[in-house]
Amino acid sequence: MPSPTPPLQRIAISTGGGDAPGLNAVIRAATLSAVNRGWEVVGIRDGYDGLLLPEAYGEGGLIALTRERVRGTTHLGGTILGTTSRSNPARFPVKQADGSVIEVDRIDELIGLFRARGIDALIVVGGDGSLGIAHRVAQRGMQVVGVPKTIDNDLDKTVITFGFDTAVGFATECLDRLHTTAASHRRVLVVEVMGRYAGWIALNAGVSGSADAILIPEIPYDLEKVAQKVRQRAERAGDFTVVVVAEGAKAVGGRMSVVDKEVGQAERLGGAGEKVARDLHALTGKETRLVVLGHLLRGGSPTTFDRLIALRFGAAAVRALEEGRSGVMVALDPPTVNYVPLSAAIGRMKGVPLDCDTMLTARELGICFGD
Ligand code: F6P
Repeated sequence: MPSPTPPLQRIAISTGGGDAPGLNAVIRAATLSAVNRGWEVVGIRDGYDGLLLPEAYGEGGLIALTRERVRGTTHLGGTILGTTSRSNPARFPVKQADGSVIEVDRIDELIGLFRARGIDALIVVGGDGSLGIAHRVAQRGMQVVGVPKTIDNDLDKTVITFGFDTAVGFATECLDRLHTTAASHRRVLVVEVMGRYAGWIALNAGVSGSADAILIPEIPYDLEKVAQKVRQRAERAGDFTVVVVAEGAKAVGGRMSVVDKEVGQAERLGGAGEKVARDLHALTGKETRLVVLGHLLRGGSPTTFDRLIALRFGAAAVRALEEGRSGVMVALDPPTVNYVPLSAAIGRMKGVPLDCDTMLTARELGICFGD
């Protein structure tokens, strides 16, 4: 157990990276837990931009998080603080007089801004990118606790991230709806889902939503195998097929479909479903339609499961700060939550293990993975 530090008086919360249902529940739980200890809480707008861009935010870069401010927010999607996936204080883009852009490390300056505002400790709610930044801030002397968030569920050292269950639930509902129209028209329906380099959303929604084929980044596919499945179903089963494609899926020997890649930022994936739909049509001659669920998976109210773990994570983050912990991430380790070093959680993407029980179940149900 770490030795207790002087009592905290003021803490800050930052939400970074893509939003995920449950962020507001974390903010509410952390705020109430801290306020109940007599601490003051502020939220930083849009990641760290509220502090790093005073010319844009003025005095409005910090939001006072009070009991009243977080009331009625547990069920709301998005984040009341705002977020950004385009601004990293370790590689902050600064425009030069000649119009060129250079990247500057502003982490020490950020810590100075925390100190100047009387902020003793920080809770960072984010995915791998934001938690990587949190790790660097902690290494330079700020007390920091991370909370794992992402619909992709690709963070290591926690059984699950919040946001994932909501995304899977919505994708499954979409598959249910698409089944009836696919069956009525005897079509092939290709459904692309997010998940970046991991197939968790595609796998869990695909199995729950009775997909006939699921293509995930962890298994490069041979589309002829999927075409065989389509032909078999035309002969033996209903003459329609539902194919779930993770945005990171790629053909054997092929590449992931990337929309764009800006300097210093994560590449944006997209187009995997379109390719599968086009090529499957060419291989089977079947009428094929494509649905890209995209950012719909990030919206809406968190499920009960996501709300509860988000609330538990928020409260656990405050307990960790009170115990003097720093450089750790709250992790779900059923039946409890525990703390793992940020250094052990970041930079190691958690993909779908090919021998996991859900994969075995899918195979036994006859779902095709294109292999
Ligand atoms: O990490 C969450 C996620 O929604 C991924 O599934 C997806 O690839 C990416 O973010 C999309 O990012 P953006 O919102 O920047 O388009």
